[in-house]
Amino acid sequence: MSESTQIQPTLYIGTAYYPEHWPEERWLEDIRLMVEAGINVVRMGEFAWSTLEPAEGEFQLEWLDRIIGLLALYGIKTVLGTPTAAPPAWLITKYPEILAVDEDGRRVQFGNRCHYCVNSPDFHHATQRLVSTLAEHFGPNPNVIGWQIDNEFNRVCTCDLCRSLFQQFLEEKYQTLAELNRRWSTSYWSQTYSDWSQIPIPIGNHHPSLMLEWKRFITRSYRNFQKLQIDLLRPHLQPGVWITHNFMGWFDGFDHYELAADLDMVSWDWYVGTGHNDPYFSGSTHDLMRGLKRKNYWVMEAQPNTVNWAKVNNPLYRGEGRTMAWQAVAHGADGFLYWQWRPAPGGQEQLHGSLLDHAGKPRPFFEEVQQISREFKEMSPLLAGSRYPARAAILNDYESRWSIQWQKHHRNFDYVAHLFHYYRPLAEANIPVDIISADQPLKGYRLVIAPSLAILDENRFRILKEYVEGGGYLILTPRTGIKNRDNVFLSERQPGPLRPMAGVEVKEFFAMDENVPVKGNWFTGVSQTWAEMLEILDTNLTLIVATYKDSNGWLDGQPAMTVRGVRSGMIYVVGTYLDASTQAIFLNHVTQICGLSRVLETPPGVTASRRVREDNREVMVVINHTRQEQSINLSSDTFENKLTGRVHAGAMKLAPYEVAVLIKTM
Ligand code: GLA
Repeated sequence: MSESTQIQPTLYIGTAYYPEHWPEERWLEDIRLMVEAGINVVRMGEFAWSTLEPAEGEFQLEWLDRIIGLLALYGIKTVLGTPTAAPPAWLITKYPEILAVDEDGRRVQFGNRCHYCVNSPDFHHATQRLVSTLAEHFGPNPNVIGWQIDNEFNRVCTCDLCRSLFQQFLEEKYQTLAELNRRWSTSYWSQTYSDWSQIPIPIGNHHPSLMLEWKRFITRSYRNFQKLQIDLLRPHLQPGVWITHNFMGWFDGFDHYELAADLDMVSWDWYVGTGHNDPYFSGSTHDLMRGLKRKNYWVMEAQPNTVNWAKVNNPLYRGEGRTMAWQAVAHGADGFLYWQWRPAPGGQEQLHGSLLDHAGKPRPFFEEVQQISREFKEMSPLLAGSRYPARAAILNDYESRWSIQWQKHHRNFDYVAHLFHYYRPLAEANIPVDIISADQPLKGYRLVIAPSLAILDENRFRILKEYVEGGGYLILTPRTGIKNRDNVFLSERQPGPLRPMAGVEVKEFFAMDENVPVKGNWFTGVSQTWAEMLEILDTNLTLIVATYKDSNGWLDGQPAMTVRGVRSGMIYVVGTYLDASTQAIFLNHVTQICGLSRVLETPPGVTASRRVREDNREVMVVINHTRQEQSINLSSDTFENKLTGRVHAGAMKLAPYEVAVLIKTM
């Protein structure tokens, strides 16, 4: 990212808009209603290839100039999407090999978007022509404040070209087949390769090293494709104009840290689908997305009340949408856009929620958006660009996630659910958390949790060691440190190279069909799903925190959780998968001893977050995510609720779905 590119210091609220679906005579009415909605940004163009380039090399860009200009006249900025997620029919007819091949070996059908092979040279060629034309034409436009590359990368292609590129990718990495065969132990089931061309694309369950490399190849393919576009755009963009991609939260089709590395800013698409917002789980997704670059981000698409693709496309409760918009801002978002403005008359998504209905009239939800826009506008000088500082981090690793998901060992062991098991108690206590990559330095954190960091390498080991030796508190959990970067067993017991520092090793691990009673020094509970039998290596310094009580005979009386002081730091080894309430007790204890403070104490369903401005002033966003009145205690401090202008101290009542933006009064 160049020095001059940075997030705009404004809170943006907007919508995806598809002017190509409508006659131009309608545009002014749309803009009038957008002004009424109070929005200040639209995203356009991300599926408009056939309108922008109706035939090969013939571009029609003026319509987009006109709408960008019109919107600007009314104070609405534009984010442009590169429309590569929707390669048009003429392109596919002329270059049929652009169509991806699915896992059953069939070419995918035209017309459901993302139907391209991400490595297709014909597709790259067409992308180059299109994106460079858009970049030259719209790059200098001062009303275009950002660009989104493609839309929700997700397709996996298994065509012959992908297969041979995958083989090349492996050859470049391993150099010789002897090396690959040795590292993967391919003599198992006679998988020894004597020619690179023999290596398959893994379909379904396969050799774990091959599967991991295939994921890396998919990551590399999308990163290259994204970079191709970034490099075409960048030279034409004005200083401060950013490039993003809209990710899908916890989706794990590729390693998001790699793709985020080339972007200026992360954005993501947030949908609830059936049911309602769980502010703790969605909070974790916001923290994951912010953690991709450890920077503020945007919600590029949000649900305008309903979707069309869930089992039941129920509406949010009245007021819930507003809490979601504020929740995003509370976690560090500087932009929040609805998908979409108005449904196209035809096409697959006719019944999706929108701000206008199919008749072009505001839906009831429109009113809520008006309120949010008003509030964003008023709060923008206070909040835009301010940071979300956290002193606790949870490490997220796509490779460990894949490794575990391919060998779950227990149907209920889910990597994300297990990570969330550590996130939730911190979130319920309003302790800010960053969810970040396992490959970055951990300076500044007081507590780091490495949930099921199955894959360890030298770099990760060094980062964790330096962190603990520097005074950090580290929690290791089940399934940590069992594999290397080839997804092959380490030659020592868990947690691998961390054993000496942890003072303990895993003597055996069990998937459990019954709960195991666990007695801790300050709690009693059960271990569910999983239980690791720990063996103390260093009895002088390693303390037992919890022991298994009578269970399957193997675990009875064995250490279940330990802690060891390392210089001024501490390392916990947790062999259990504790029940939820015991987990909360355990984490409350740890957060207390490592001195992590809460933003505020709140009842369940009420969250308190903190953003910190450049002038170091703290802004607290308190949200009642429930349908009942709630009460919080501000103790002796006096706060002004900037949304109402009212001053509060001591007990403060929050109406159902109320949001408060609080600043301590001097
Ligand atoms: C995704 C896409 C949008 C739209 C929505 C519908 O997020 O990016 O184009 O299809 O889903 O929920």
